[in-house]
Amino acid sequence: MSTKIPSGFSKLSKEQKLQVVANQFADPATVAAEFKSYWHEDANKQKVFDEFSENTITNFYFPFGVIPGFTLNGKEFMVPMVIEESSVVAAASKSAKFWSERGGFHAEVISTVKIGQVHFLWYGEKALLQAAFPAIKAELIAQTKHITSNMEKRGGGILDIELVDMTEFEEGYFQLKATFETCDSMGANFINSCLEDFAHILREYMAESDSFMGKDKEVTVIMSILSNYTPQCLVKTWVECDLADLGTFEEGMSAETFAHKFAKAVKVAQVDTYRATTHNKGIYNGIDAVVLATGNDFRAIEACGHTYASRNGKYSSLSEIDLSNGRFNYSITVPMAMGVVGGLTTLHPLAKRSMELLGNPSAAELMMITAAVGLANNFGALKSLTTTGIQKGHMKMHLLNILNHFEATEVEKEAAVEYFKTNKVSFNSVRSFMIAYREELIKNGVQNVKIPS
Ligand code: MEV
Repeated sequence: MSTKIPSGFSKLSKEQKLQVVANQFADPATVAAEFKSYWHEDANKQKVFDEFSENTITNFYFPFGVIPGFTLNGKEFMVPMVIEESSVVAAASKSAKFWSERGGFHAEVISTVKIGQVHFLWYGEKALLQAAFPAIKAELIAQTKHITSNMEKRGGGILDIELVDMTEFEEGYFQLKATFETCDSMGANFINSCLEDFAHILREYMAESDSFMGKDKEVTVIMSILSNYTPQCLVKTWVECDLADLGTFEEGMSAETFAHKFAKAVKVAQVDTYRATTHNKGIYNGIDAVVLATGNDFRAIEACGHTYASRNGKYSSLSEIDLSNGRFNYSITVPMAMGVVGGLTTLHPLAKRSMELLGNPSAAELMMITAAVGLANNFGALKSLTTTGIQKGHMKMHLLNILNHFEATEVEKEAAVEYFKTNKVSFNSVRSFMIAYREELIKNGVQNVKIPS
């Protein structure tokens, strides 16, 4: 095993990089062959994946699954999900079915505004900068027309630019805080290009303007970058029905009892940060899976969601429940900066297929679908948690993973699935099942059977 950190790694060919990585293992030849076995057999297809990132040596597979029927705003969708955690797709599908019999999911886009900032230092008299700002703003807008004109034709562009005084936090610190409408694109490149131009225009304006003298002409730009916090790029999604229409639940639990217990579970997530984090994680189980399947930026969307969950000064649940007037009304409001043009959405061959499967939605439609799947997963989690407990369903779905751990054959898997229909799944109970099953095989004279340790 080599422990030396290789220099000039990025300049090596893919084969050479793979060899360097394989040399880190005890058996380089086997490991290299294993990594290679995940390369796409079509070299052109593989090249597309190689070029998404740097120092690529192989592909890392995740399951691509679907919710077969998802009703949103009266329309049926088959929704793609990419996720490794067992039971997420199953839970979303189960919730989708439950709600399709009760009017489906509903969603609306509240707003689609995105934000970018130029952070800069300037040590002059504040009033001078504030007085000059309307003229500076006009220049920022006029001189970025070469970037914004196409977006304006599509109905977007720069919405506004503010000068923000941050000097109470840091001496000399100001921001240009701009808002943008980026239509069907996520807009990161558009926004960042505008911002970098703003920084340049600002510096030039100050240097050349007669309103600023001496040191006041100097602006130090710290950085120009979009903000992934988009509290004005929001979707609300909800499910609703008469309480009585919820049906009955495990062990005869009535709709009324279920709804009130469910509402208490939401309340817990509203007041307790430990629970809120897990509750919201359950929402992002669904959201991330659709975001990944459609080639959007799941880190940005999740980071934003968690910041939004803290917007009132304490991290809290993203969902709300209303049981008034005999109705069950459950909703989440989440920020959702998604695009359907540009980025990986149109480059990743399966992300492209995901978009087709969804009927090539607009960004607004995709935002609604994604948020609604988040609600579906969260509803499914709370429904299980407040009735049967989560482990029953979760471990059932996890059964195959445990069986794979014991290298179960297809026949053993079938027998195990049958057995665990009426028995509780746990790692130990599956181990015991496998031991008993294989001991029986040995008794019957089957050769080369391995008993799990
Ligand atoms: C597991 O991935 C997600 C849950 O923990 C969510 C929740 O507790 O609400 C089940």
